[in-house]
Amino acid sequence: MLSYQHIYHAANLADVHKHAVLAVLLDYLTHKPKAVTYVETHAGRSLYNLSDAAARKTGEAKEGLLAIEEKSWFAPDHPYRRALEQTRQINGPDAYPGSPALAGGLLRSTDSLHLAELHPQESAALKKEMRHRANIYMQDGFEMAKSICPPTPRRGVMLIDPSYELKTDYQTIPGFMKHIKRVWNVGIQVLWYPILQKQLHLEMLSHLEATFSMSVRHEVSFLPAKKNHGMTGSGLFIINPPFGLQEELSRLSSLYGQL
Ligand SMILES: C[S@@+](CC[C@H](N)C(=O)[O-])C[C@H]1O[C@@H](n2cnc3c(N)ncnc32)[C@H](O)[C@@H]1O
Repeated sequence: MLSYQHIYHAANLADVHKHAVLAVLLDYLTHKPKAVTYVETHAGRSLYNLSDAAARKTGEAKEGLLAIEEKSWFAPDHPYRRALEQTRQINGPDAYPGSPALAGGLLRSTDSLHLAELHPQESAALKKEMRHRANIYMQDGFEMAKSICPPTPRRGVMLIDPSYELKTDYQTIPGFMKHIKRVWNVGIQVLWYPILQKQLHLEMLSHLEATFSMSVRHEVSFLPAKKNHGMTGSGLFIINPPFGLQEELSRLSSLYGQL
């Protein structure tokens, strides 16, 4: 039984990293008129209320996005900031867009979205928010992705953002990404992983780096949200990164380095 709920962690420093890079990627993909596909294996509920008791309980949003906004990391025309403002305008000042909402907000009506979420409650919330905009699957995200890839249109991006509740994810992800690359050669794949004191990601990363030459690994570190909290950083492994993404990655490295 799945117990992870992203509301406890929404808008934390790892979300800011993942969502800022995703927003820049999505923005890049819309520079050409050709339609794109967005696939997400672990979507979550898509819309979060940061004044919710669960979000306030951990204080991760307060230490994350809310602290970052005081530092003006994102200019008004940055795609992450644009998506944030759009969500707040529609849903109120405490609303936060998860990755499906970011994609829904930044992509165009001609683009296709495929979102998988297995948890019944999260899936119901996702459906309520995104059903007019996306194809929603209440099934295992890896299976959903295998069943629709290569997608139409071919140009596009897949976000793989598991909660790593199942430690076997660390072993199965490299094989999954290899399969997707084989059937969807041009697809951009973005994998998020936590950097834990236990360093569980290292073996997975050594497999990924040995397999994919056209890739980039980007990691940022920060202080744990609370004493004894195991996460000390956030990582992204991107296959087929578009030209131009490096500038944003370097900028984020420098900003996180100043925290
Ligand atoms: C880290 S959260 C997703 C957050 C979201 N990507 C975002 O950035 O806004 C991971 C989600 O995956 C869901 N999940 C766990 N195992 C899954 C599976 N095998 N297939 C699809 N969803 C799964 C969990 O219920 C949880 O909502």
